[in-house]
Amino acid sequence: KKIDPCTLVLFGASGNLSRIKLMPGLFRLDAAGRLPEHMVILSVGRGEVSREDWQADVKGMLDAKFKNGYDQKVFERFIARNHYHANPPNDPNAYKKLQERLADTAIYPQNLAYFLSVRPTDFAPIVEELSKVGLVDESQYWRRVLIEKPFGTDLPSAQALQAELTKHLKESQIYRIDHYLGKSALQNVMLTRFANAMFEPLWNNEHIDHVQITNNETLGVGDRTTFYDATGALRDMVQSHLLQTLALVAMEKPQDLSPESIRAEKIKLLEAIRPIPVNELSKHAFRAQYKAGRVQAGDGHGENVTGYLEELARDGVTESVTETYAALKLFIDNPRWKGVPFYVRTAKRMHEGNTAISIRFKKAPMQLVEGQHQNWLTLNIQPRECIKMEIESKIPGLDVATRTLSIDAPQRQQGDETIDSYESLMLNLMEGDPSLYLHISEVEAQWRLVDPVVKAWMADKSPVHQYPAGSRDPQESSVIFESEDQFWRYSIELGGDKH
Ligand code: BG6
Repeated sequence: KKIDPCTLVLFGASGNLSRIKLMPGLFRLDAAGRLPEHMVILSVGRGEVSREDWQADVKGMLDAKFKNGYDQKVFERFIARNHYHANPPNDPNAYKKLQERLADTAIYPQNLAYFLSVRPTDFAPIVEELSKVGLVDESQYWRRVLIEKPFGTDLPSAQALQAELTKHLKESQIYRIDHYLGKSALQNVMLTRFANAMFEPLWNNEHIDHVQITNNETLGVGDRTTFYDATGALRDMVQSHLLQTLALVAMEKPQDLSPESIRAEKIKLLEAIRPIPVNELSKHAFRAQYKAGRVQAGDGHGENVTGYLEELARDGVTESVTETYAALKLFIDNPRWKGVPFYVRTAKRMHEGNTAISIRFKKAPMQLVEGQHQNWLTLNIQPRECIKMEIESKIPGLDVATRTLSIDAPQRQQGDETIDSYESLMLNLMEGDPSLYLHISEVEAQWRLVDPVVKAWMADKSPVHQYPAGSRDPQESSVIFESEDQFWRYSIELGGDKH
């Protein structure tokens, strides 16, 4: 798609996300020839930094990311796009100065894309200030605002933020990001379902026993303790990334691939998820916290790590019921999914890092052979991007017996583009394509679903179940399963076995 000449105004440019993902991502887009010739990056930060120093800082970000070096010609083009603007927090004329700077049309194209990689409490005030100086006015050029996650911390705060933003912006100018939607393997879910005739006829309660959506990480909360302790796994991962994943797995076929049609189906699906009964919460939701343990480091060696409460204690916090493990059982009240449980789980400090959608089919109607297993279909999102189907097949020989055969197809082939999700989403922002961004109704439906659980969990101060860092799901989490023969699936590398 064609991108108009534009200026990307990056708020929070010296923050972590920008250093690790955004700047290197923009560089890669430039290297791939995807940025228009006339495209400028104006980084906005609090401190006074000269353009030269900023460019040296950006070079440092690239050096850190691309250890094997990069093309000098692309670098020169890229670095020439980079400008810096100081926006000191207590300068009453800060935005006026920004406006004056951007008015220099010889340098800055007037189509403006704002990327707000800042604290969530700053989203609305920044938009208001931009609006006061005319910088979101679309009468001549387009102006778009990308809002980082989280969009609110519950339904009322999300609605309040929305009300603030829409004082100044039209819905079409607001790009609410969920970076999971930029992942190619997740985009593939919809295509696998609808580009093949063999899945859709089976994709319903007649044939599917249950679905598991899993995001496990080996990492702990790191230096984000303050944010994390106020947030927890449910709000951090389930409310956003995992419910979006569920929507893609379960939604009805959109009329076409337009942003409106896709979002309309996702909204319908999210709104059809049955509220979680708080009076029977323990059968539907499980939480836990990691304690000290041993995890696999990147090089495959074990590493002793501290527990969550000990990490908080370093900041002087002595108690917390915040969950680092969250599992939910959800039902979707529509004809396709009536009675099919969707288990959604996420955890920090698990034995493995893996994100996957695992679908278990019902038992074959007539079991001709004893010990026959049920079929699984797994769409693995990361680290491997693949589709795996498990089917029963005869063991060659005289006896009539079957064993499970795996058909495991990597989605990625040699020579395929590796695009980071932020790269494709930044491109979509500049192209004006909101398909992979969230509509406010999606955000609202997602909060509506998790809010009661968060509230009940916060109110219950009894000690939270603990699991050792580096372990598998706590055994106690199986209380949420509907039937005895359901169990957590692990990654393909581990054979998907039960614990
Ligand atoms: C972020 C969460 O939104 O997603 C993090 O705040 C989490 O806690 C991250 O680690 C996971 O993203 P990815 O792309 O690494 O799976």
